[in-house]
Amino acid sequence: MGIISPTEAAERLRRGEVVAIPTETVYGLAADATLGPAVRRIFAAKGRPDFNPLISHIGAIGQLDELAIADARARALAAAFWPGPLTLVLPRSPACPVVPEVSAGLPSLAIRMPGHPVAQEILHQVAKPLAAPSANRSGHVSPTCAAHVLESLGPSIPVVDGGSCRLGLESTVIGLTGPDAVLLRAGSITPDEIAAVIGAMPVPPQDARLQSPGQMLKHYAPSLPLRLDAMAPRGREGLLGFGPPPPGFAEVFSLSDTGDLVEAAARLYAGLHALDHAGLEGIAAMPIPHQGIGIAINDRLTRAARGR
Ligand code: TXA
Ligand code: MG
Repeated sequence: MGIISPTEAAERLRRGEVVAIPTETVYGLAADATLGPAVRRIFAAKGRPDFNPLISHIGAIGQLDELAIADARARALAAAFWPGPLTLVLPRSPACPVVPEVSAGLPSLAIRMPGHPVAQEILHQVAKPLAAPSANRSGHVSPTCAAHVLESLGPSIPVVDGGSCRLGLESTVIGLTGPDAVLLRAGSITPDEIAAVIGAMPVPPQDARLQSPGQMLKHYAPSLPLRLDAMAPRGREGLLGFGPPPPGFAEVFSLSDTGDLVEAAARLYAGLHALDHAGLEGIAAMPIPHQGIGIAINDRLTRAARGR
């Protein structure tokens, strides 16, 4: 099927079909969140377990109150970071039109307003919340360009090509269903930036299994073994470089020559995709500082390494 236009994507979405669309974080596999059969097509196409809930994407802040109960913290965070790479998990509103499967039966709903102009154009044309997980087979590396989507999901899924994703890591997910803001997933918006808006640091999840089921799974994993904090090769390994690379690796994919964390985040999944298909024995990643977006990069690398 291949590449389609944003207008064709909107038409297909209105008919209850699934379409891969670009966002500023990663490509999403979208469907109308208010249609049960459409949402079930997402789970089927990804091979995603039905206990892992999806994010609902909205095109305008006015859609928020129809879907969820937004307190002062939620409103402040939405005002500060939307459109952008922040997902808020909020109590579902009593008349929420999003089908229960999107929430995996939980009383909460994850909502985000994406910043990519093509995603916004499609959301405005469809005028419905769009459920969209990352557009990859469940557990695999997330797609940051249209070619990654086609490679992971095959030719039956139509894709809108919006170029390479500017940020390259999934959104920061903040749970606001209780008194503390909970950091359910690290992303390019850091805990410090959240705290600057709501006056308190987000806390780690008490029981991640209940609060963010997706975080418990094998995730973001390439097919080759991945090891972290590497400074010398073991066998025919490809290196994810950060700053000047040590010698001896069979292949080097530089995340950032200059040690820039924002650039490294944007290139991380492209690097995992490239080295995974280069005929090597394994992938090694150089140490990445645990600060700013480096926290989210290390989170994804740790899950990808553990996923094997
Ligand atoms: O950047 C992103 O967030 C991308 C783009 C496409 O928007 N989407 C994305 O979706 O990464 P997905 O499905 O791969 O990740 C959604 C995360 C999962 O960890 C899921 O468990 C969590 O959000 N989540 C969704 N609904 C939730 C809920 N009601 N309560 C707790 N966690 C939830
Ligand atoms: Mg995902």
